[in-house]
Amino acid sequence: MRKNIVAGNWKMNNDLVQTASLLNDLQAKEKTSNAEVMVAPTFTNLYLAYETLKTSSIEVIAQNMHFAESGAYTGEISASMLKSVGIKTVILGHSERREYFNETDESLAKKVDTALAHDLRVIFCFGEVLADRKSDNQEAVVESQISNALFHLNADAFKNIVLAYEPVWAIGTGETASPEQAQDMHAFIRKTLATKYGSDVANSVSILYGGSCKPGNAKEIFSKPDVDGGLIGGAALNADDFFAIVNAF
Ligand code: G3P
Repeated sequence: MRKNIVAGNWKMNNDLVQTASLLNDLQAKEKTSNAEVMVAPTFTNLYLAYETLKTSSIEVIAQNMHFAESGAYTGEISASMLKSVGIKTVILGHSERREYFNETDESLAKKVDTALAHDLRVIFCFGEVLADRKSDNQEAVVESQISNALFHLNADAFKNIVLAYEPVWAIGTGETASPEQAQDMHAFIRKTLATKYGSDVANSVSILYGGSCKPGNAKEIFSKPDVDGGLIGGAALNADDFFAIVNAF
């Protein structure tokens, strides 16, 4: 179901005390908005965040998970472990996971299958690197990432899929994609979905933008017809900035 969503990806930030402080700030500043609001702390802080925010309108989500049910995967976390601490949504395919942990379209397809099998909603990340953008190859790269990891799914599966386009060259750099660049790619993604699954499915999927989305640019980016919200990194670590983005809708 297509909704406005603003999700904060905290990445590897905030210990227990810092997490408690930011959660308190979020609780104090939360107010009704025109978007679903989510935050993704690190694994060690998920349960504290879930317990703190479970009566609020802010959903606590996970930054990653393994495809296996259990076993000899030191340091990993399974879908059922996430569900056991109240998590219902998981981010998969973030470019930092692809770059630093060698996640591939194929391994991500397995993670997506496991997440959906556990009725977890997936925020699936993808996006081109600077070299692809400079060679005007961004659409081919994005189409390949989406189709390789998702197009084995049936149409019904997309009820639990949120897409997040994150041009890698915009992540953490301050080099935000222009609202027109974001709209062009989101429209291409929606067209690609429509070609595969039909327009009903394509128009039912939320497509988020991520990559230096800030209070000063969120309103214009979110105003674009095929942008349904944002996946926020740095700005999510400050409650005022995060809610300024939430309230850009
Ligand atoms: O997952 C969101 C993140 O990659 C964007 O980071 O700091 O550019 O908002 P940032």
